[in-house]
Amino acid sequence: MEKIWNSPETSSVNRLPMLNLEHPTAVSLDGTWNFQLLAHPDAPMGNWQKLNVPALWTMVDGEQPFGDKPIYTNTQMPWDHFAPTVPEDNPTGIYERIFTISDNLAHKRVVLHIGATESVHILYINGVQVGAGKDSHLASEYDITKFVKAGDNTVRIKVIKWSDATYIEDQDQWWHGGISRSIKLYFTDKVFIERLYATPTLLADNKTGNLRVRAHINSIDNQSFVNYKLQVRITGKSKAKAEAKVVEKSSPKWTEKTIEEFEAGEDFFQATYWDGNMPKAAKKAWLATEPIIPGPLDFSVKLPVLPWSAESPTLYDVEYVLTDPSGKVVQTATQRAGFRRVEIKGNELLLNGQPIIFYGINRHDFNKRTGRVISKDDYRADLLALRKYNFNAVRTSHYPNDPAFLDLCDELGFYVIDEANIETHAFQNQLCDDQKYLSQWVDRIGRMVQRDIHHASAVMWSLGNESGAGLNHRAAAAYVRSFDSTRPLHYEGAIRGDWTANFDLTDVVVPMYPSISAIISYAKSKKAKRPLIMCEYSHAMGNSNGTLKEYWDAIHSLKGLQGGFIWEMWDHGLDQTLPDGTKRSAYGGNYGEKKHDGNFVCDGMFFPDRRPKPAMEEFKYLAAPVTIKKKGAKYEVFNKHFFIDLSRYKLRYEITVDGLPKASGSIKLPAVKPRKAALVSIPASALKVEGAGERFLTFHLEDKSGDEVAWEQFALKSVTAKQPTKIAKVVSDGLIGFDLEKIVDKQGNLNLPEQVNAPQLTLWRAPTDNDAIGTAAHRWNNWGLRDLKLTSSKVSKKGKSALITKTWKTGKGISVKHIQKVEVVAGQIKITETVTLPKQLDNVARVGINFELNGALENYEYFGVGPHETVPDRALGKVGRYFGKVEDQLTDYIKPQECGGHVGVRWFELRNGQNRGLRIELDKPRMVTVLPVTSAALADATHNVYVKRSGTTVVTIDAAHRGVGTASCGPDTLPAYKIKPGIHKFTWTMSVI
Ligand code: GAL
Ligand code: MG
Repeated sequence: MEKIWNSPETSSVNRLPMLNLEHPTAVSLDGTWNFQLLAHPDAPMGNWQKLNVPALWTMVDGEQPFGDKPIYTNTQMPWDHFAPTVPEDNPTGIYERIFTISDNLAHKRVVLHIGATESVHILYINGVQVGAGKDSHLASEYDITKFVKAGDNTVRIKVIKWSDATYIEDQDQWWHGGISRSIKLYFTDKVFIERLYATPTLLADNKTGNLRVRAHINSIDNQSFVNYKLQVRITGKSKAKAEAKVVEKSSPKWTEKTIEEFEAGEDFFQATYWDGNMPKAAKKAWLATEPIIPGPLDFSVKLPVLPWSAESPTLYDVEYVLTDPSGKVVQTATQRAGFRRVEIKGNELLLNGQPIIFYGINRHDFNKRTGRVISKDDYRADLLALRKYNFNAVRTSHYPNDPAFLDLCDELGFYVIDEANIETHAFQNQLCDDQKYLSQWVDRIGRMVQRDIHHASAVMWSLGNESGAGLNHRAAAAYVRSFDSTRPLHYEGAIRGDWTANFDLTDVVVPMYPSISAIISYAKSKKAKRPLIMCEYSHAMGNSNGTLKEYWDAIHSLKGLQGGFIWEMWDHGLDQTLPDGTKRSAYGGNYGEKKHDGNFVCDGMFFPDRRPKPAMEEFKYLAAPVTIKKKGAKYEVFNKHFFIDLSRYKLRYEITVDGLPKASGSIKLPAVKPRKAALVSIPASALKVEGAGERFLTFHLEDKSGDEVAWEQFALKSVTAKQPTKIAKVVSDGLIGFDLEKIVDKQGNLNLPEQVNAPQLTLWRAPTDNDAIGTAAHRWNNWGLRDLKLTSSKVSKKGKSALITKTWKTGKGISVKHIQKVEVVAGQIKITETVTLPKQLDNVARVGINFELNGALENYEYFGVGPHETVPDRALGKVGRYFGKVEDQLTDYIKPQECGGHVGVRWFELRNGQNRGLRIELDKPRMVTVLPVTSAALADATHNVYVKRSGTTVVTIDAAHRGVGTASCGPDTLPAYKIKPGIHKFTWTMSVI
């Protein structure tokens, strides 16, 4: 074990085969351990401190008590060496504690289970080196029987942070060090189940389940286990059992073979039966002369079942019982099994015969206070949060999660792409062909499959992420294909750059960040021989996920496109308290790392505290279990499920006029069969409600607990309200009346009621991450868009209107013409804005009017799309009336950026504590942003906690607003959502209320 951390050929020493069984005899060793952090693996020992197990020493409840800190890099390694060399400075944690073996357990076999360590550990029992293991996301077990004694024993685990394995664990996330999963001991008899691979499938009739059990019985101390029996019993909605016996070792030694025994093999060696059709008796005679290691068992049990799917996750209890020849039980274990069939036919992936759709997300193990130490409750809460937004699939990017995660996915119903812990991003195309790493490749992928083979939820095996496509992959893929033929292989590296390549490495085309046009063209092409499931798409960094709808329009309409996995679930912002007490969400560079990749680690659909980002609402709608369309005078409800009817849901409707509810009721929803539709209708009386204004019919589909799972909205024929003609003179509470002389001064400055800063033209927004990492923000900087200066302003007044002709100049001197026609109409100020964008300003952030009002106007009501933040290319929401505080419009993106807007706004009101204020009506539904901060303040802050409030209410009304796209990693905003040069004209009308 000399320098195992610098030995890429070695993936473990003395580690037991992967066995994923709950042991009733298990004793947890979690809790407080003695701990010390050394500067490198060979450093002398120092003083003991305390640390919990599991815990990463780099992230102990939001602190770094031992000095070593998290480091964030994306693709680059955190140092400048080449594989497999690691730096001399190599933080090494020594964990130690005492455990007691009671007298009655002293004759048992003792196994130590280490859940996961980052990145390599060496195990010592009572001062003697026992073994070592790599793979930061799979467990290692060691037989420590020979090393322990009755009474107190010392276990020491030396965890070394950097190793040759670090190069194949180069995932885009924080680097940590420590023990991240639980440690336990378990006890068995001297004869025990050493391996167990239960593989549940569903036969073509969709009614019969088959559980294939491959097991291996073994013993220590040369104890015989011949005639031991393994029995499997399945219980649940139906029952079945089967058993197999360990056969006797019967082979004679080669030199001791009789003439008959030699002869028995002749037919085999001379290939008499070269076509494989050897008579049974001959085969038996030949096998009897071959050395057989006793122990392997391979048997199956069939039973009638209800199939498992994410929609209907029926599970059966499986019990394993090992008995000795006298029938005495020596070991029991349980698992749960769901029966389903995954197959690929043509360009479709079928589950139980159906071309299911993956409404998926990529999920890293993440916790803002513990780094990667995740409790079962965390896992459950994560999955329930995803379920609430209609996700049905998770890719365990980019490594196997704790076994508890897959148990929960089986139970709650999620399709999982189970990914092996291999990513060599910094040396992407080299290490996959490097012989030194061959065994680690096969070991990591093989052990994951061995661990998770019994899980219904694991529907595909992934060979890892971003590691090229090399010989090591081929070896591992061959292993998996032979070991488990019941699941397709998934590997993005195999099709990078060529979606028609490498059929041996992937059964599915799983690109990352393809454009919508590319997936459409693939689906329509004759070259499309495999299903397409995007392993990553729609990069959720900051205010992002533009054009999700266009992706899903394509997926829902084209055969062979079967969904995808959003990148990603989490913003990995770590809780950090600075010396001055400031608390913030830390990203790359915040721990003083020299090499880092900034806030690229904050790219999830959830904030670090599991609050969903606004984009989740868009996804929820698209992944909803139904679609509702108008069909004549009725409405057609289509059941998007593949396996279940709609009997579990309730349907309600509501009719609003000018955003106010006027009629509502529930609709009897038939138990619509999967992939079928039914017509429903709205009572005629409800459609006749009184009142002027825009009318909408909204459907709400709710689950049993009353939570909305789907909605749809239809505009009905509206009755236009009469425009008021009387001037309502309001001059009170400091609000000024609308006198054109006062509103427009001689220089053409506007002076509105409650105004703090006069309306300005704006073509800029606080760059989103997509703007900043894509090319848009660079262009805006080059033009000087942030600093528009008014260079000329002329006023001509005519009766009740004034015409202001302005010229603005960008920071780089580009002129923009802007005409404002100001009128006083029926007691309101009506402003018509005409902005002419010169040719050069192609693709600006927005064309809008921005002004600041008295901060006392802190209450905001609008009639538009909401209630969540929307942008033109992420615009799904219900048109309604929404109220809130101006402060609450701010979305908490960790790296502040433009946010808080709502599209489709017809009018909005801003009121103070006395319920007085302003109302603004728009000529047509437009995007409006009302915030307690300026865009400049958002752009200038590095973290949300530093955003400077302006003390005012900042309003921006946009004639055009650029879509957000996904250019921080993936396609930029689609042309339809970009802003073209030319004339942009819009009108807004303000009144005092
Ligand atoms: C992908 C990668 C992910 C992550 C993402 C960008 O290339 O697989 O791990 O880095 O890009 O956030
Ligand atoms: Mg990567």
